Amino acid sequence: MSQDINIAIVTALLDAQPGYLSGSAIADQLALSRVSIKAHMDQLKNEGSQIEAIRNRGYRLISLPDSLHPAVLEAMLQRERVAAEFRFFDSIDSTNSEAERELASGCPTPLVIAAGQQTKGRGRLGREWFSEDKGNIYMSFVFRPHLAPSRMQRFTLWMGLELCAELNDQFGLPLMLKWPNDLIAHGKKVAGILTEARIDADQTRDLVLGCGININSQLDNWPEEVRARATSLSEIQGMRLEINQLAAALIRRGLSAYDAFIDESYVKHFDAHWHRFNVLEGKTITITDHHGDHEGVIEGIDESGSLLMQDSSTNLRAFQAGDVTLSGGLKP
Ligand code: BTN
Repeated sequence: MSQDINIAIVTALLDAQPGYLSGSAIADQLALSRVSIKAHMDQLKNEGSQIEAIRNRGYRLISLPDSLHPAVLEAMLQRERVAAEFRFFDSIDSTNSEAERELASGCPTPLVIAAGQQTKGRGRLGREWFSEDKGNIYMSFVFRPHLAPSRMQRFTLWMGLELCAELNDQFGLPLMLKWPNDLIAHGKKVAGILTEARIDADQTRDLVLGCGININSQLDNWPEEVRARATSLSEIQGMRLEINQLAAALIRRGLSAYDAFIDESYVKHFDAHWHRFNVLEGKTITITDHHGDHEGVIEGIDESGSLLMQDSSTNLRAFQAGDVTLSGGLKP
């Protein structure tokens, strides 16, 4: 209940922006005393919101927390009219692992799980995903689609492209996609996607798309080797970003991108997105897979989403998986 009140108060503060929210009006609306409203405002302030209180005018929202906050995020999701089930954790082992547990216990789908911190964040190829820092987005989309497993790679690419489109078009953030699942800006990794699926009789039964995005992290808190190849959006922009608003917009976009993939309407947008956001277009790269390093020029992707590369003996080769490095560095 207290959470519902906080959501209603954040919504009212956002609606009143840039003006003041009258303490008595919100107290009447929520059938609470003004003292109780003040206690909720104090709680929101202690949790990172800046709220000004002026006698005879009321409360004014100055800024929201730099990290994911459950009531603020829920208020933003309601404003974005997101209809999916939603779970939030201050800290959890991994949102993808929680998704597996939810699926095993028969959760409704679509479901979105978000966390402010992960203690065992998982990356691709069994790697760790550094997730200790608050100020970032760690989230998993959970679906039960009836899809052929061969479509999984294209699905992951489509989701990455759609997240790039949202960040570029709605927030002016210069994100590009590096096949298969990295979102990069100014030559450094900002986000990664980990898709995990359970296959039953040639059909994908459960599908979890996990996404970690570095938003307001302080880079000096990161291990040296992470800092060498990754960055955060606030570092790129030189200012903090409104993380809860960003998360709500990305959740809305992720859910609509999934719908478009399932009803096939994505097909008419895929190529344009790919040419706009593919950072590897026409580039000379090295792809490392379990056979070793392979160098060549990128020609595009095939129907399944495998990367097509022309090698020095002019063979066109398709790679389903691997790590790509751009010759001469990552900068586009
Ligand atoms: C990669 O680039 O290696 C993929 C990283 C995926 C990280 C996200 S964070 C949310 C979700 N939960 C996890 O444990 N991993 C994914």
